[in-house]
Amino acid sequence: MIAKRLEVFGFRNIGQANIEFSPGVNVLIGDNAQGKTNALEAVYIFAGGKSFRAKSDRELLPFGENYGGIRLTMQSSLKKREDIMSFEYISDDGRSAIKRTAKKNGTVERKIGDMLGTFRAVLFCPEHLALVKGGPGERRSFLDIALSQIKPVYLKNLQRFHALLQERNKLLKDAREDRRIFDMTGELWAEQLSECAAYITATRAEYTDTLSELVKENFRLMTGGRENPELSFKSSAGSDIDPHDENGVREKYFELYTTSSDREIAAGTTLWGVHRDDIMIELDSKEARLYASQGQDRSIALSMKLSEGEISEKISGESPVYLFDDVMSELDESRRNFILSRFDGGRQIIITSCEPEFFRYGELNIIKVEGGRYLFPEKGGSL
Ligand SMILES: Nc1ncnc2c1ncn2[C@@H]1O[C@H](COP(=O)(O)OP(=O)(O)OP(=O)(O)O)[C@@H](O)[C@H]1O
Ligand SMILES: [Mg+2]
Repeated sequence: MIAKRLEVFGFRNIGQANIEFSPGVNVLIGDNAQGKTNALEAVYIFAGGKSFRAKSDRELLPFGENYGGIRLTMQSSLKKREDIMSFEYISDDGRSAIKRTAKKNGTVERKIGDMLGTFRAVLFCPEHLALVKGGPGERRSFLDIALSQIKPVYLKNLQRFHALLQERNKLLKDAREDRRIFDMTGELWAEQLSECAAYITATRAEYTDTLSELVKENFRLMTGGRENPELSFKSSAGSDIDPHDENGVREKYFELYTTSSDREIAAGTTLWGVHRDDIMIELDSKEARLYASQGQDRSIALSMKLSEGEISEKISGESPVYLFDDVMSELDESRRNFILSRFDGGRQIIITSCEPEFFRYGELNIIKVEGGRYLFPEKGGSL
């Protein structure tokens, strides 16, 4: 999969722009606050359906404007033709919600979810360096983003689980005053929630197995193979249940939801479920969260991101586009070269960086970023 061209008609600090990407390594180079991440963010929207950093679409409109838009031309190696996807953002009065229109090859797509999967990307930004040392939420969100792109059913189950969870939590809170409604409907909630949770658990567990094997290999290639990382899925259903066993997990959750209501009512919240899962990451059998050095920690996070891309490639038959925002300065030279060396052949990466000295050799498409404008030094400018 290759992102060929990003056209911008108003997006954050970018007024109008036409950015041509090449297969292989693309580098958006520029000082701080010029529009490097903004361009990467725009590309990511076509994979994730929404920005990876904006809380609302309003943030995406250029200051003081009521119209914005982005269009991406992509080429899949599996299809003969290009696909063109676009997003338009319109604000009627500057206050009420932004109207967003998504199109694929000229046709309006009512549900963004149906568009996902056409363009696949793996995003790696500085926040992802918290994958190893941060809280379980970081690792769950890694799983959710990776799985949602390759399995639309997963995303549907996840959304359903969170909607059910919210309703059930409200009932648990209300039950502190009067538990009649909870007692009447509790089993129904338990049944629906445990069904969703079991599917999500089994899918996450299977994904983590594949991920663990690939992380081992990538880590070995990157570091010369002195230590051995291992990832295992930790289900909130407990260690006595095999998380791969969907039926077993469903029964376990149903039991927890129906026999521990007093505890849950006292807490006013659902105490077990996929919102409490985690991935245990170990390095030579020691918990990486507690013992890994900064270098080891980064190597694991980077291995996880590269492995996420490889799994997506195995499933869809082609490489996703890798979007690396500002992570090169966080990695040492050997790891930087390791990344760059992987992007010959059909794979594409788009990297943002403030440091041109990291990108002095090899075949690179250098794009200089200055105040929301994108210049191609090879075509007349200079770096
Ligand atoms: N909605 C918006 N309208 C106009 N400008 C915006 C909007 N949102 C953000 N900006 C501005 O766009 C500029 C570029 O932001 P961006 O995050 O792309 O910087 P960057 O080049 O990645 O810099 P850094 O190296 O610091 O990460 C910033 O000055 C930011 O304040
Ligand atoms: Mg940036």
